[in-house]
Amino acid sequence: MEVVGRVTAVGAEVSEGLVGQQVLALLPGFGGFAERGVAEAEMVLASPPGAGADEVVALGVNALVAELALQRVGAAAGERVLVRGAGGGIGVLATQIAHARGAEVTVVTSSSARGERLRELGAAHVVDRNRSGVPDAGFDVVVDTVAGPDLGQHLELLRPNGRYVICGAAGGLPSVESFAPLLRDFHKSLSLHAFSLNSVTPEELRGSWKRVVALLGEGRLSAVVDQVFPLAEAAAALRHVADGKAFGKVVLRPR
Ligand SMILES: NC(=O)c1ccc[n+]([C@@H]2O[C@H](COP(=O)([O-])OP(=O)(O)OC[C@H]3O[C@@H](n4cnc5c(N)ncnc54)[C@H](OP(=O)(O)O)[C@@H]3O)[C@@H](O)[C@H]2O)c1
Repeated sequence: MEVVGRVTAVGAEVSEGLVGQQVLALLPGFGGFAERGVAEAEMVLASPPGAGADEVVALGVNALVAELALQRVGAAAGERVLVRGAGGGIGVLATQIAHARGAEVTVVTSSSARGERLRELGAAHVVDRNRSGVPDAGFDVVVDTVAGPDLGQHLELLRPNGRYVICGAAGGLPSVESFAPLLRDFHKSLSLHAFSLNSVTPEELRGSWKRVVALLGEGRLSAVVDQVFPLAEAAAALRHVADGKAFGKVVLRPR
């Protein structure tokens, strides 16, 4: 999906100044398991000064999804934000970015150990989904990377004028009935957003990356690298992700 590396050549209408620069590039499809890649110039973003390749790739798509999802639903200071799938690649960044925006963050995760790590990243409250299930109600925003059969229960946790943003479906597709609270709780004027990075304009992408880099520079955001595998061990890396034990991002290093 995304890679970090040095630019070796550019097309005719692209600034030669990019050659030699370390960049983050979003590739079309899933073509990143490689030593070399080709990206559209508008999908290439400057690496933050002084940041290492592992760190930048661990931010990458996940930071952009988390930042833009929170931006689209206007998560504001003082609001209560719930993050589902908080220990995952997107979740660890959504937790930090919501906290940096001044929100009070509650996370749903799969163990108390993961919860402790999420507290260090800014979570004020932790719900262990394997023990206590669904949190108490009263959220202004839910960022959901899980969806799945429990989506409806989480939709019901929103306050009046609450916003729910689905950015992934790590837990599978929800049933149509999951969305019933939108109409059953019609008086609450809830909003439901589906958010994919594939829909954003190059301007939105750059604006978001600028905000991510600023948070990184201010020390209010950090990349969370679970493990780094050599490219030759990509299959083992994928198995590790599929096991659901990774906390943050799994990185492949070509050499
Ligand atoms: N919107 C976009 O543009 C975009 C871009 C990239 C990826 N995605 C999608 O976003 C989703 C999350 O991506 P990711 O990189 O964060 O994935 P990830 O690193 O695998 O994390 C997903 C997290 O969800 C939780 N989870 C997994 N299965 C679950 C289940 N059955 N029930 C409840 N929680 C479960 C786990 O967190 P805990 O253990 O902490 O609960 C897991 O760490 C994926 O579906 C991915 O395809 C969307």
